Amino acid sequence: MKTIWLDDAGSAAVIIDQTLLPGETRELRLRTPGDFHDAILRLAVRGAPAIGIAAAYGVYLAAKALDTGDYGAFRKAVADHCDYLNSSRPTAVNLKWATDRMRSVVENNSSRPVNEIISLLLRECRMIGSEDAEMCDGIGRHALTLLRPGMGVLTHCNAGRLATGGIGTATAGIYLADSRGYGLRVYCDETRPLLQGARLTAYELARAGTDTTLICDNMASFIMSRGLIDIVFTGSDRVAANGDAANKIGTLSVAVNARYYGIPFYICAPSSTIDFGCPSGDAIPIEERPGYEVTSMWYDKPMAPDGVKVRNPAFDVTPAELITGIISENGIASPPYEESLVGLAGSKRDPGARIDGG
Ligand code: MRU
Repeated sequence: MKTIWLDDAGSAAVIIDQTLLPGETRELRLRTPGDFHDAILRLAVRGAPAIGIAAAYGVYLAAKALDTGDYGAFRKAVADHCDYLNSSRPTAVNLKWATDRMRSVVENNSSRPVNEIISLLLRECRMIGSEDAEMCDGIGRHALTLLRPGMGVLTHCNAGRLATGGIGTATAGIYLADSRGYGLRVYCDETRPLLQGARLTAYELARAGTDTTLICDNMASFIMSRGLIDIVFTGSDRVAANGDAANKIGTLSVAVNARYYGIPFYICAPSSTIDFGCPSGDAIPIEERPGYEVTSMWYDKPMAPDGVKVRNPAFDVTPAELITGIISENGIASPPYEESLVGLAGSKRDPGARIDGG
């Protein structure tokens, strides 16, 4: 299952339109910055790392379409395209992280002709994709050290293959464990209001042969209370320097419930999701989406009175104190995260290695 790739002619990025899954698997070809902005905004491609990879291809194709050999004009136009793509979704830091990498390619090669810079941009977006796949594998190796045969794992939203260039972040350990015959029991929160858990995670895990059970978000505490969950793995859209982590709305209640029932709660996130420029969760921008996603989007007729006030924050922030550990490709960071995340960013560790803060 590939999330995003360049077509044979090299003139469009191809994605599976995730708004149509699981009922329909339809490829969508993205060519212009407007195509990419729209696909990211309406979640045809979603999940922090996948958004970053898509945006990188968007920058490459926009740069390729520019009709100029003048470096100054080229650089300005690429920077404008990056800013435009960055405005599509505010919470996932991987978006800006990826467009910054593309922008740096242009800025660091000012002495080269524009056509050479365009080739370097193509190389960079391919690298962003392949590095993401490697980071997922690394997260999986570390997460695997926390798993035992027969465990019950709860996950929220989709931090799986569809959200990344590889085997996912929250799902990476699950895939590796099940390929070794662990027989995990995975519970997927449906993830109101856009149902990424039901439509995407349950779909991809069941397709891979994992024992998958779908629950509504408000059933998670009951399932925990019955002793069915041994560990929680979720993804993140942005981890602040102090370890506070933004993820899909509802993650915070999962973390609070997990603490109540004494269940370890782990954030699985590549280093591209750690934002050292963001001191704490208070500084993470939280996307607000339209109310119809809550009231009517999935229903034949509206399920709320006309004109009722609706809030639809797409993400929440789990405070560091509720997070048992942050699993990245370089190891598992433990609190206090101010120190351990810095250690994590700077080094590769053996699978399962703990990087303790303080
Ligand atoms: O709104 P979405 O579907 O883009 O939200 C996705 C999530 O919250 C994921 O958990 C997060 O981006 C990490 S994906 C590896």
